[in-house]
Amino acid sequence: MREEAYPFVTRALPYECYGLAPCISAESVTYHHDRLYKAYVDRLNQALADYPRLQKLSLWELLERPENLPEGLRTAVVRNGGGVFCHELYFDSLQPLGREQDPKGALLEALVHDFGSLQDFRERIKAAAMEVFASGYAWLALERGGALRIVTTMNQDVPDLKCMIPLLAVDVWEHAYYLQYQNRRSDYLNAWLRLINWRKVACRYEEGMEEVYNDRMLHGEWTEEDLAMMSTGSMMGNDGFGGSDGVTLAPEQECYESEFLLVP
Ligand SMILES: [Fe+2]
Repeated sequence: MREEAYPFVTRALPYECYGLAPCISAESVTYHHDRLYKAYVDRLNQALADYPRLQKLSLWELLERPENLPEGLRTAVVRNGGGVFCHELYFDSLQPLGREQDPKGALLEALVHDFGSLQDFRERIKAAAMEVFASGYAWLALERGGALRIVTTMNQDVPDLKCMIPLLAVDVWEHAYYLQYQNRRSDYLNAWLRLINWRKVACRYEEGMEEVYNDRMLHGEWTEEDLAMMSTGSMMGNDGFGGSDGVTLAPEQECYESEFLLVP
């Protein structure tokens, strides 16, 4: 997403359209991906067609400071660029049932630290998603200060990218679940929780934490916790889940480039 730029393309799903069944039906996924998400991509390209200088900006850059965009373009980018960003993160954060895996390592530690337990996190993001009035998203995001937060947005808005790095998103527009669940958003969210691809979320978390540490280093704002971690040779916790400053990634957790989108 950091590198993704004009002309934007409709990214293929990282699983078959029926891969999320029975939690999310093939019909729902196909309609959602092939028609709705694709329409956002097409409209974003259309909006930027007359702005060659802005075509060099990545999707992330376009959405990070929309106030800097020409007034005539701003709404189209927020709506359609946001639609592209939100849907790509949503689809890329899912995996077929049966490959369910809980988060582990540094991400699990952070979830427990910031939400109490993994179960508490699940309950809180579901509650947040239930509270979204009408259409929007619930997100797990990494604040630039290093804490995890659950936030919600309306419409196709993304969280404030200047302040946080989105790690996970759930689409609670009715189009995401109405075909299968009608108005039963709660049932859809229970199903969604079983499909989260925690490995990809962990990669985004790791890359986000590298940015957090780099920012602290730039500003000389090391915390006592950072210094303690440095003294033990790990910048990302005690499992070697770091990847910078000479720390080697654990083989089973080695980060990879998403096949669906370039994550921050
Ligand atoms: Fe959607």
